[in-house]
Amino acid sequence: MAQVQTFLEQLYHEFKGITDGKLASYIPELARADPGWFGISIVTLDGRSFEVGDVAQKFTIQSISKVFVYGMALEDYGREKLLRKVGVEPTGDPFNSLIRLDEDSKRPDNPMVNAGAIATTGLITGSDPAERLNRMLSMFERYVGNEVFVDVSTFMSEKTTGHRNRAMAHLMLNFGMIEQPIEEALDLYFQQCAVLVTTHDLAVMAATLANQGVNPITGQRAVGSEHVRDILSVMYTCGMYNFAGEWAFRVGIPAKSGVSGGIMAVVPNQAGIAVFSPLLDGHGNSVRGLKVFEALSRFELGGFLRGHQLGL
Ligand code: DON
Repeated sequence: MAQVQTFLEQLYHEFKGITDGKLASYIPELARADPGWFGISIVTLDGRSFEVGDVAQKFTIQSISKVFVYGMALEDYGREKLLRKVGVEPTGDPFNSLIRLDEDSKRPDNPMVNAGAIATTGLITGSDPAERLNRMLSMFERYVGNEVFVDVSTFMSEKTTGHRNRAMAHLMLNFGMIEQPIEEALDLYFQQCAVLVTTHDLAVMAATLANQGVNPITGQRAVGSEHVRDILSVMYTCGMYNFAGEWAFRVGIPAKSGVSGGIMAVVPNQAGIAVFSPLLDGHGNSVRGLKVFEALSRFELGGFLRGHQLGL
């Protein structure tokens, strides 16, 4: 529908000039991003794309990976068993907050904050690190629809500077929340965060979740439909960290952000939406990304973010 494409182009031009926010720099490699990058992509369940800007620019997926790895852990363990290892309670804390120093709690709060994501990644099954990585890459490939690669520079950059994540893993080990070998879990976690995607890829991945786990472009199943509801619930309550409540209020659909500047959102049964722009606000969410989603939810098509038919 021309109307949607025109609206995305208007948003792109309206927000392109915004230079508020900062590049993430605690992972040194992320500070090399071009602050001007900006892409918006909507992929519908019948396979159409509405796109504007740098939608083919590759960047590392970062925390958005947590959604998909959680889905993998649900498949490996099942809902109840996984729930005993990783909770589903929003924290209201930043993504990198240290786990509560509470020995009674034998599980991290939720799989979207770093502590819970590292614990979830540590559960992924496979006989050795190579098999676990390959299983994970195959999982991402089913969502994206083609081969994916780990950006080695970003992986090394985070592996050599990720002391805070390493500290969390040690604390969780101390409390019996996770098991050895934690260095292997951390490596796999840093690798999942360094998987390269484009804005278009993220919209296809979101559309796959919107389509009950089947990639709408390739027709391939990426995750069991019985897990999609759980994945979307956790995205909705925990995906935007300590902005999750305000996101629900302002935008109102399940979403996940990453520190490289991506935001991916799911409109169940209708479409996947992704925005990429690396300048971040204090919560670690893309500044332009938030503006685009807020505008989409106000647009006359905004009804579609509230569950009405998109009519594309
Ligand atoms: O573990 C980290 O800190 C990064 N690899 C991912 C954090 C992230 O993307 C948080 N999102 N806003």
